[in-house]
Amino acid sequence: ALSQLVPTMAQSCSDSSYFPPDYPVDCAPPPPKAAPVPFTPYSGPVVDRKSAFTLTSKEVSRLQAAYQALRDLTESNPDDPRGWLHQAAVHCWYCGGGSDGQAGPEIHGSWYFLPWHRAFLYFHERILATLIDDPSFRLPYWDWDRWGLTPSRQMMPPPYSLGGQANSLFDALRGQSPSAQLPPRITGPLITQKVLTQTEYQTFGGGTGNAGQLELLPHNHVHVWSGTDGNTMPNCGTDMGVLATAARDPMFFAHHSNVDRFWDMWLAQSKSNQNPTDPTWSQQSWTFYDENATWVSIQVEDVIHTTHLGYRYDTLATTLPTKVA
Ligand code: C2O
Repeated sequence: ALSQLVPTMAQSCSDSSYFPPDYPVDCAPPPPKAAPVPFTPYSGPVVDRKSAFTLTSKEVSRLQAAYQALRDLTESNPDDPRGWLHQAAVHCWYCGGGSDGQAGPEIHGSWYFLPWHRAFLYFHERILATLIDDPSFRLPYWDWDRWGLTPSRQMMPPPYSLGGQANSLFDALRGQSPSAQLPPRITGPLITQKVLTQTEYQTFGGGTGNAGQLELLPHNHVHVWSGTDGNTMPNCGTDMGVLATAARDPMFFAHHSNVDRFWDMWLAQSKSNQNPTDPTWSQQSWTFYDENATWVSIQVEDVIHTTHLGYRYDTLATTLPTKVA
């Protein structure tokens, strides 16, 4: 049964010898200098987010330059909230590391999963674009859902896995070799079908206290697979398999771009697939540092349309796989 395949990401790992010496304990952001300003929709052009497998070599270089600039910022100014380690800590802070009580509700295992991660990716994207002074920069997505159509894509996107430490997109704390194949039980047609055929947001994207199928199945599977050999627990000692460190792997953002793409794919499946209308959901807000290091407050309703955030997905595969392997 599918439920037996559902892995869970490690919330915490009891043996601290697994952890790198700089394992985050307190992930709080640098204290803001002013009260948060309300988010204003992105006013630049709407640009496609593309598959990480279809980037031109120029686009790969641009992506690498952007992450290099992000890593360099952490080196040159460790207190800049936009720098690499602070970016990674944003995820940690919101997923239970927010011990100062300011982070807000847990963003996993609930209906905040999709909008929170969309907002995080948006600010991350704007920061990268600003660092390389290229407003048209967009994050790529890792389309692990194309199982059976393009077998050569059933692996980590090569731009993220090749070249070792010299590649700013590489992360040494992964468990997989660059050529490892994603098994179909992780992201195959059965999984895509199970996710996209949910008729309620609550079972697709999460409810008030439950994770949706998108989070439970492909999302968690890909984290755990990326963090380990895909079969063994714990995931401790890798970045992607542990909530507190997952966003230290640049692949996190390509993975979540695809999770985010599934939100639009699900809405495109049918007019009756609808987002929640409850204001408890749509008016939930979070704060992020934006590309100018301004402390910004953003609400769920600000992120419902990707075009208000300056991007769309180049393809939404809305035809469900028919061949179930
Ligand atoms: Cu916030 Cu993929 O986990």
